[in-house]
Amino acid sequence: MISSVLPTYNRAPLQFTKGEGSWLTTADGRRMLDLGSGIAVNVLGHAHPALVDALTSQAQNLWHVSNLYDIPQQQALADKLVENSFADTVFFTNSGTEACELAVKMARKYWHDKGAPEKTDIITFEGAFHGRSSAAIAAVNTPKMVEGFGPLLPGFVQVPWANTDALKAAITENTGAILIEPVQGEGGIRAVPDHCLKALREFCDENKILLILDEVQCGVGRTGKLFAHEWAGITPDIMMVAKGIGGGFPLGAVLATQKAASGMVVGTHGSTYGGNPLGCAVGKAVLDIVAEPEFLAGVNARAGLLRQKLEGLVAAHPNIFEEVRGSGLMVGLRCKIPAGDVVQAGYDNDVITVPAADNVARLLPALNITAAEIDEALTRLDAAATTLEESAV
Ligand SMILES: Cc1ncc(COP(=O)(O)O)c(C=O)c1O
Repeated sequence: MISSVLPTYNRAPLQFTKGEGSWLTTADGRRMLDLGSGIAVNVLGHAHPALVDALTSQAQNLWHVSNLYDIPQQQALADKLVENSFADTVFFTNSGTEACELAVKMARKYWHDKGAPEKTDIITFEGAFHGRSSAAIAAVNTPKMVEGFGPLLPGFVQVPWANTDALKAAITENTGAILIEPVQGEGGIRAVPDHCLKALREFCDENKILLILDEVQCGVGRTGKLFAHEWAGITPDIMMVAKGIGGGFPLGAVLATQKAASGMVVGTHGSTYGGNPLGCAVGKAVLDIVAEPEFLAGVNARAGLLRQKLEGLVAAHPNIFEEVRGSGLMVGLRCKIPAGDVVQAGYDNDVITVPAADNVARLLPALNITAAEIDEALTRLDAAATTLEESAV
């Protein structure tokens, strides 16, 4: 018999009843150190007082109106994002997938209105992940994601990751945009080197192609800059964000330049919930903390510490781990044994990591994790690796 919850997830038998900072408590009383943050969502940990306050104060006044009316909380968050990014304008969504939908629509509408309606194709990369809608799965087009769900939205062309020749060969007169994650998340924490992102920007400019960045997982402070592309000193035309921007409240956004957004006039897009007062009040509270230079400096310091300790972990367990990779507090441990076994051994030692493709266990801790918690995380990961080594003997 089918379960009452549609069984599309292979869930670990863990049930959490409380979260505080980087710690989760299970129904049976275990305290687990959370290095997953609900897959890069809880950027300020669980139940951060400023976010609890923003949400509860807003909840006492007004939950929902409609985008038919002015929403001051939405305006404040959009202003904050515009002030702190390349963007001139923002549309709020409830998720990363919805942000992907709008990014695709926006790029196509731009070229349509510019008198180049043939430029509908969007180039994407092997190993990417942009969500689970029909457009987002068509964008990635792996058998696992698309089989049985056709016909798919046409107009996506996939090229191998980190292969400039293949990218150049894929460009045609129909290419309107390139869509890329500066750091692939689901694909196994693969960071596009800064010089490649720079070259990609130049390539887009030379070939009249819009650059869409998917910063749903790597954005909002995760890499130690507010947005990951800042490391490369470039700006996109359109950017998707979600996850961290709500700190745990469902919120996403598309940020764009005035030029890229020029086709999105009244009536071209909408959302009942996107940009509602609750989400935007929380999003503003998140950004008020995360966008501060001192906070980001702290993220970089913590990232350096974590990286150094993880290099030590890999060196101490060469049969378990192959390498550490990633950027800031978006870190992957590429494993020599199945990454799922490493994640499970972590659970057994009360530390939570997240599996990704390419045999990687992901560490996406809260951006305000303390040095003492990083030490504790390493003690637990070391114990997990030791158990795995012993069981292999
Ligand atoms: C890079 C990236 N883009 C898009 C998405 C889709 O976001 P959501 O699950 O909020 O729809 C995800 C989710 O994991 C993601 O990592």
